[in-house]
Amino acid sequence: MEKIAFFDTKPYDKLWFDKLNTEYNIKYLDYKLTPDSAAAAKGCKAVVAFVNDTISRETIDELCALGVKLIALRCAGYNNVDLKYAKDKIDVVRVPVYSPYAVAEHTMALLLTLNRKIHKAFIRTRDFNFSLNGLTGFDLHGKTAGIIGTGQIGRIFIDICKGFGMNVIAYDPYPMENSNIEYVPLNKIFEESDIISLHCPLTKETRYIINERSLAQMKSGVVILNTSRGQLIDSDALLQSLKDGKVRGAGLDVYEEETALFFEDYSSTIVQDDVLARLVSLPNVIMTSHQAFLTDEALQKIAEVTLFNLHQFFSGEALKNEVVYKK
Ligand code: NAI
Repeated sequence: MEKIAFFDTKPYDKLWFDKLNTEYNIKYLDYKLTPDSAAAAKGCKAVVAFVNDTISRETIDELCALGVKLIALRCAGYNNVDLKYAKDKIDVVRVPVYSPYAVAEHTMALLLTLNRKIHKAFIRTRDFNFSLNGLTGFDLHGKTAGIIGTGQIGRIFIDICKGFGMNVIAYDPYPMENSNIEYVPLNKIFEESDIISLHCPLTKETRYIINERSLAQMKSGVVILNTSRGQLIDSDALLQSLKDGKVRGAGLDVYEEETALFFEDYSSTIVQDDVLARLVSLPNVIMTSHQAFLTDEALQKIAEVTLFNLHQFFSGEALKNEVVYKK
């Protein structure tokens, strides 16, 4: 049986892999893949990695020196992989789609919680505080949602927003043909939206797409949602706009410096990231730790497709879900 090093394992990952795996000897490791931890893949031809593993050129060199030939990402995004460096050295595969519904639904959950202050009401009523002061929200019906990125997740979120009776405008450099989506230039999204939701990948063009300048273009009272990647937002600029009231609220499932923190329990530690500490302290910020994907359906699909990717690799078949470096 081929041995596979499975990095950054959590109990919810193991559940479906253990149920479905019949072919491999999976070595579950509870730490992330980094240049220092790569040595744990000794004796494996393939490793399974996740969104916050550091798959830099140093990690790739370490893996190659051990004879590892495949990095199987059990996620869709691959911005944490130095693909240019990996080219011709090691194959990289991913799970392109697991549940776009999970992420889109979580985005709406963030918006509803923020707007109707469910997080505050939950704590109040548990303490028999039945006051409504400070819990006023606004109707979503009739408001304008600006969607940046109309791929799998963005399109489902658009349908959800339309179900709430919202007007939807969208920006994507590759608009979907024959759709009923109203595409507008990016500056119109900033200027006209009551709610802005990010559903684009992290690239050179999209890094800090929400920054001091774009925030200045926005309506006062805008709500910002990010379930894509943390570095789409300049967190310092967002924090400033939350403090001065320009941004009414932010629902964040990702954070630009999440790699060192997310998925772990630091509740007994003094967290050193002051921007993060300030953001989570604000009553109008809801932060979840990259959990938008976390549904039974998505976890099952991640395990199925990763095992399929491994099977294709070890059978010498063409890799359907290979990630190829493009200039
Ligand atoms: P997708 O590839 O189906 O869609 C991405 C869309 O963004 C495409 O239509 C593309 O044309 C567009 N795009 C590319 N460059 C753009 C730009 N400069 N401005 C605006 N749009 C641009 O991807 P999918 O499946 O919808 O995922 C979107 C993002 O969600 C992923 O890139 C990933 O970062 C994130 N994600 C987050 C998860 C979570 O648990 N929080 C789970 C899965 C994905």
